[in-house]
Amino acid sequence: MKPVSFVAYPLATIALTLATSAQARPFDSILQSFNILSEQSPLQDYIMSNPEGQATTGVIISDVIGKTQNIAIFSGLTRDIDAVSARLDNASQNATVLAPNNSIMRDLKRKPWEDPDDYDSFGADAYEGTSGQDRARGNLERFVQRHIIPESPWEEGKKVKTLAGNEIWWESKDGQKKIQPADVEVTSIADKVSNGEVWVLGGSLA
Ligand SMILES: *[C@@H]1O[C@H](CO)[C@@H](O)[C@H](O)[C@H]1NC(C)=O
Ligand SMILES: *[C@@H]1O[C@H](CO)[C@@H](O)[C@H](O)[C@H]1NC(C)=O
Ligand SMILES: *[C@@H]1O[C@H](CO)[C@@H](O)[C@H](O)[C@H]1NC(C)=O
Repeated sequence: MKPVSFVAYPLATIALTLATSAQARPFDSILQSFNILSEQSPLQDYIMSNPEGQATTGVIISDVIGKTQNIAIFSGLTRDIDAVSARLDNASQNATVLAPNNSIMRDLKRKPWEDPDDYDSFGADAYEGTSGQDRARGNLERFVQRHIIPESPWEEGKKVKTLAGNEIWWESKDGQKKIQPADVEVTSIADKVSNGEVWVLGGSLA
């Protein structure tokens, strides 16, 4: 058997991300308590302490999404999907990223690359071999795309299609933003930069 390299087996990287972040749990919760105390990300703190940085000119989503510790698992996935990372890295394409937090990602009922229909059609080996890996990548891509809105600002009540094509909107109830129709709460806004915003979710949209 050939040794499995990360190049030959991209899913290993994802599995490693999930495993590593699971191990990093105690540290996570320390950082997380800072996030709860302050609505501001370190970058926003930096910008606020630096009047010349007010306009956030030039700072885009791909520069900041990796800096918010409690969405590290999801932001790692956005970098793995070319169509998504290219968009977040493009200053002339706005986006609203709806990032499930790390505990939501760890507690998903099924892994983001799994689809129950695949097990029905292909059995327990659904994600083995080259075609299995392609299937897993396709599912993972769709999972991430269901969490990216190709516009920003995104107004309350406005129905928009995610990159995966399904329609969603948000509404505010008792000062709490909720993504509909899934009724998933937005727990904070991690970043507002020149090509869009990163919202942290207390649930997943897939
Ligand atoms: C960035 O987006 C613009 C507008 O959609 C597009 O014309 C351009 O090709 C994109 N740039 C890259 C590097 O993908
Ligand atoms: C992109 O986002 C910026 C920052 O919120 C905003 O000023 C600009 O109008 C947006 N552009 C489009 C085309 O929505
Ligand atoms: C994620 O959101 C849920 C629901 O709001 C919350 O209970 C949990 O503590 C959050 N976890 C992290 C890592 O922020």
